[in-house]
Amino acid sequence: MSLQNKTIVFIGAGNMGEALIRGLLATKMVSPSRIIATDLRANQREFLAKTFGVRALEDNTAAVDAADIVVLAVKPQQMGEVLADFKPAMSESKLVVSIAAGVTTARIERELGGRTRVVRAMPNTPALVGAGAAALAKGAYATDDDLVAAESILGAVGISVRVEEKLLDAVTALSGSGPAYVFLVTEVMIRAGVAAGLDEPLAKKLAIQTVYGAGKLLVESGEEPASLQRKVTSPGGTTEAALKVMSERKLGEIFTEAIKAAEKRSRELSGS
Ligand SMILES: NC(=O)c1ccc[n+]([C@@H]2O[C@H](COP(=O)([O-])OP(=O)(O)OC[C@H]3O[C@@H](n4cnc5c(N)ncnc54)[C@H](OP(=O)(O)O)[C@@H]3O)[C@@H](O)[C@H]2O)c1
Repeated sequence: MSLQNKTIVFIGAGNMGEALIRGLLATKMVSPSRIIATDLRANQREFLAKTFGVRALEDNTAAVDAADIVVLAVKPQQMGEVLADFKPAMSESKLVVSIAAGVTTARIERELGGRTRVVRAMPNTPALVGAGAAALAKGAYATDDDLVAAESILGAVGISVRVEEKLLDAVTALSGSGPAYVFLVTEVMIRAGVAAGLDEPLAKKLAIQTVYGAGKLLVESGEEPASLQRKVTSPGGTTEAALKVMSERKLGEIFTEAIKAAEKRSRELSGS
């Protein structure tokens, strides 16, 4: 399904909704006149209308009434109320794309009734700078065309991959929560740099650029992480000394355990 001539409605235009609107408009696949955003906050609606030239409404039902595609970008705990609110305006001709963590396609289908076509996505916060990683899964009634449409929307703010819905808990644990792991490692590196004698602003500048540069190198070189690691690790050198400590302290096991815990928590939260 091409996005051209489709009206896309964002229910909830906070961090993620706004990032998606910005990304979509930047691709020029959709014109501002084809986007409607709803948000509870009047100042956010004013900001969206002024900044992007989109229509910004308070009334979810009126917005969904005009929609071909409804993107659900409210917090998971707001979902029940929001679905009940716009249900009267729903029909099977409208595709629902949800980015709410832990809200299953089955729940959305059940609460909206009928044979609602739902695609569920798990994005991550680097979407805010156009470098997101999202995984998408379709519900019982969504078609491959619907997945393509959802990919076009999420693809405007990064990469997207397709998975079976049962794998979204693992995706949540890896790439959904993943930015936090990298931020933590960055913070730890800054503190370690200070402990090694650098002043804090300098340690911060070097650590942040190192994380950015390493990520960019991974993406742009297309090389395996292990191969890039070997390239900076000369025998008997400084990197080898550091990696030996990490291996002895079982950093790999810590990450494996941590991601397993996140996956388990995601399953508990989504009831899957
Ligand atoms: N941020 C992430 O890293 C991330 C990653 C993956 C998935 N997600 C998912 O993305 C979704 C949105 O997250 P976010 O960080 O963008 O949240 P957010 O900034 O809180 O955005 C949600 C927006 O929806 C508005 N809203 C609440 N109830 C509404 C209603 N009935 N009608 C219309 N708008 C309503 C909220 O207004 P108020 O502020 O007034 O409540 C808020 O502006 C969440 O479900 C989250 O699970 C987020």
